[in-house]
Amino acid sequence: KEIFLKDYKLPDYYFDTVDLSFSLGEEKTIVSAKISVTPRVDGAASPLVLDGVDLKLISVKINGSELKEGDFHLDAKHLILTSPPSGNFILETVTEILPQKNTSLEGLYKSSGNFCTQCEAEGFRKITFYQDRPDIMAKYTCRIEADKSLYPVLLSNGNLIEQGDLEGGKHFALWEDPFKKPCYLFALVAGPLESRDDTFTTCSGRKVALRIWTPPEDLPKTEHAMYSLKAAMKWDEDVFGREYDLDIFNIVSVPDFNMGAMENKSLNIFNSKLVLASPETATDADYAAILGVIGHEYFHNWTGNRVTCRDWFQLSLKEGLTVFRDQEFSSDWGSRTVKRIGDVSKLRTYQFSQDAGPMAHPVRPHSYIKMDNFYTVTVYEKGAEVVRMYKTLLGSQGFRKGTDLYFQRHDGQAVTCEDFFASMRDANDADFANFLSWYSQAGTPIVKVASSYNAEAHTFSLKFTQTVPPTPGQPVKEPMFIPVATGLLDSNGKDMPLSSIYHDGKLESVACGGQPVYTTVLRVTKDEEEFVFADVAEKPIPSLLRGYSAPIRLHSDLTDNDLFFLLANDSDEFNRWEAGQILARKLMLSQVVNFQKDSALVLDPQFVHGIKCIILDSSLDKEFIAKAITLPGEGEIMDMMEVADPDAVHAVRKFIRKQLASELKQELLNLVKENKSSEKYVFDHANMARRALKNTALGYLASLEDEEITELVLQEYKTATNMTDQFSALAAIAQKPGKARDDVLADFYNKWQHDYLVVNKWFALQSSSDIPGNVENVYKLLSHQAFDLKNPNKVYSLIGGFCASPVNFHAKDGSGYKFLGELVVQLDKLNPQVASRMVSAFSRWKRYDETRQNLAKAQLEMIVSANGLSENVYEIASKSLAV
Ligand code: ARG
Ligand code: ZN
Repeated sequence: KEIFLKDYKLPDYYFDTVDLSFSLGEEKTIVSAKISVTPRVDGAASPLVLDGVDLKLISVKINGSELKEGDFHLDAKHLILTSPPSGNFILETVTEILPQKNTSLEGLYKSSGNFCTQCEAEGFRKITFYQDRPDIMAKYTCRIEADKSLYPVLLSNGNLIEQGDLEGGKHFALWEDPFKKPCYLFALVAGPLESRDDTFTTCSGRKVALRIWTPPEDLPKTEHAMYSLKAAMKWDEDVFGREYDLDIFNIVSVPDFNMGAMENKSLNIFNSKLVLASPETATDADYAAILGVIGHEYFHNWTGNRVTCRDWFQLSLKEGLTVFRDQEFSSDWGSRTVKRIGDVSKLRTYQFSQDAGPMAHPVRPHSYIKMDNFYTVTVYEKGAEVVRMYKTLLGSQGFRKGTDLYFQRHDGQAVTCEDFFASMRDANDADFANFLSWYSQAGTPIVKVASSYNAEAHTFSLKFTQTVPPTPGQPVKEPMFIPVATGLLDSNGKDMPLSSIYHDGKLESVACGGQPVYTTVLRVTKDEEEFVFADVAEKPIPSLLRGYSAPIRLHSDLTDNDLFFLLANDSDEFNRWEAGQILARKLMLSQVVNFQKDSALVLDPQFVHGIKCIILDSSLDKEFIAKAITLPGEGEIMDMMEVADPDAVHAVRKFIRKQLASELKQELLNLVKENKSSEKYVFDHANMARRALKNTALGYLASLEDEEITELVLQEYKTATNMTDQFSALAAIAQKPGKARDDVLADFYNKWQHDYLVVNKWFALQSSSDIPGNVENVYKLLSHQAFDLKNPNKVYSLIGGFCASPVNFHAKDGSGYKFLGELVVQLDKLNPQVASRMVSAFSRWKRYDETRQNLAKAQLEMIVSANGLSENVYEIASKSLAV
């Protein structure tokens, strides 16, 4: 059943207090709920519809008296009280659930001997009968009763107000959360856990107990998570003025978790791969991800919990904003430019592709069948870009005024994206023109820019034209409001001061209180629009969309020479990287044409020179160099083709990498040598950047057929003292089939078989390999003793990893599609959310040639016709077929 934003209605009843009581058992768990109910309109006496899925109803009472058949109606998804009393009343239900059999990992389930919950988006209905929607906000208490030896630790939201022993080896804990919350923020954890304890004193002097809970053997690996948490708490005070609001903050790590983590009030639950780290077992990328996600969930306390969403269509209100906040947190911690490059690459690779396919949806979707399918890169990452645009338009101070007003107006409320927009606008008295269409229109805008210099008038003109491509359900689009941060470079590569701009027949001054201005934000709001810079002394090279100021595809008329000039000179480091990427994309596309014509592949010497200059520029950040010498991914190039050709793109990327490695061998060897270190592992920006550069160079070198280098990489593998270096060397060796590869993969497994997080890396490295015919190997790994279809991380590593190799997943014999088709059907029976994430790999099937189209389509049709298919998989598969 499809649900529409336009059908939103206020609830007929509100819930004020909720007292839950859990009796956790091995056979069954009993949940008692006591809810105080208030009708929205007094005396309306409409039926009260409660959601409930996979629940066994034991009893239901109103104001203390048991309801009989006829007083209520029960179906597979609801409990409906047909004629509740008018006025306030107390509703009591008792239900029975089976967490130990719950493989969907939503609601209450068991993971490695622990009970835990995941309620967002609509999992609370698998725990008890409730109005499972975020605009129902209530104060909760939660009493947990369980066997004391099996479950010594009992946790829920808020403060622990009572605990004690009971008969029969049991004990209990009673928790009270003083803040009103929607049910998706409810959490419960019970199990044999231990905690790393620390404290944080807030800006107003509140001493907060911090606890990170894991099985005892994992405790040593929580040091970095604790560091990250404290850094996040401090940062939110400094940058957003947000202070923590309780005396306790808990984080629990669980190995079985569908997503990354969950921001339950004062009891965040994390996928263990986003908490646990040690230098020996986690890479720099893992450390960085942990910092970002610990920050993300913590930041939700204000953006999500204190101010929440009215309905699930508003998801980006909390997720886009919170992703923006975690991006800024990570930027301030490390390198802003490098963080931006990483975030933009993610957007281009995943979100642009989604925006151009059958699942394209606006940042605020208009409809859904299963909300879980809308925890997407569009809602999260594009949503964060939308928030970033407010900041670009308002400046840091104006943006902060906007968030201050937002918290002041809406604390304790469930609100909409317009409420956020209105706070930004009102706090700054700003004119946001048609900005709201970023929430309602799907598709990536395409913006063309034509530039011209008038030497007599000393003016420089930029003419913009924009189009927003059609997407499912939205054939025609309105123009968008696109902020284009722009600077002009003179012939020495220096920024020119900007004075004034003719726009809409008016001359607008750019200058700001006598200070020279080098970057200005052009507000492009129409289909076609011209901006003319006045007093431009010489023909400039424009630096457009600095810092990637809007989530668009920009096509400028810059020549290759202009781009090489920007790569070498732009003061905006992001745009230096961008210029290199545009050049690389052009180069790759031109060689794809050669490949398809069976012509020889060639590498432009000017490109090699540009890369060499970047490598040798010692003024640059090392991580920036590593990013700047990395070619765009295969997906990005396929996206730009009429018909995606994975074989051609793969061959070309491989060719350019190898050619670069051979022409820049000495420079790359120097990078490896200069950036090695035998010092103890430190996670800070300088060391991380150094390792990134060394390992990027190593990866290039390993593409050569060269005994000496094989020896060097093997040496790196053997002498590595941390996972970052060890895994990079392993990946470098694993590029090529052969005995060296087999041996080192076997050695790695032997070393790390006791550590499931490291074993997952080992799965992913093999499954995502581009080695011809790799599907056979992946089938074998499915029956490896360490694999388990019930654990999402293992599925993402092995099956998700496989789909990340275009040559193998899109193999022309259809073997990759068949593999995924079979697995989706199997997985769906265990865990629909995970199955649905996997089936998404099919969604761009129309982008390929006819042979591939037919093979992929056959799998999608097989999936859609499978018996007992979940709504999750049905939604993605059927929408994919419908295009
Ligand atoms: N709110 C969580 C986060 O962004 C994600 C939870 C998603 N859960 C789901 N079943 N889709 O941190
Ligand atoms: Zn989030």
